Amino acid sequence: MHPDGERILFTEEEIRARVAEMGREISRDYAGRELLVVGILKGAMIFLADLVRSITVPAFFDFIAVSSYGTSTKSSGAVRILKDLDRGIEGRHVLIVEDIVDTGLTLNYLVDNLTARGPASLKVCTLLDKPSRRQKPVEIHYNGFTIPDEFVVGYGLDYNECYRNLPYIMVLSPRVFGGGR
Ligand code: IMP
Repeated sequence: MHPDGERILFTEEEIRARVAEMGREISRDYAGRELLVVGILKGAMIFLADLVRSITVPAFFDFIAVSSYGTSTKSSGAVRILKDLDRGIEGRHVLIVEDIVDTGLTLNYLVDNLTARGPASLKVCTLLDKPSRRQKPVEIHYNGFTIPDEFVVGYGLDYNECYRNLPYIMVLSPRVFGGGR
């Protein structure tokens, strides 16, 4: 394990198995339809890349970037679109793909924002759910794993842009971010 980690939460094998299972479930649910996968940059990119390879219905991609934690582990509460989708989503079956739902502020905002653009349907898929810190409600249709209130990195998730390329998910040692949340 990386020396900044406290413990591994999910191994590469566990993630691979669960992501493949999610892809099969999504493929069943969207049978006969075309999917527009909307990835939230940058955290969801690795999850999305693996997930879509387990999806068997035709899938198109677009990406959106929103302001997030910046350099601390605390959310400011404000959500801002830094990079919008390239195309309209009207009449499309949209699946938002996120790395983790924490306070819910990001997805609560994005679901409202994208719903206003008139998609045929809109669902949320997240690899991780940290429900204990929720401030705003978010309906999650596909969830990989529910996790306790700990700061995790790897498999796309970062702290100060570090650790995204770790193939597993680990709890970040509190000494790395000063211990205070
Ligand atoms: P929310 O708006 O509080 O739900 O936060 C969502 C975003 O916060 C995620 O997309 C992540 O970028 C970031 N985030 C929340 N918890 C963690 C964590 O444990 N590790 C890394 N990033 C996190």
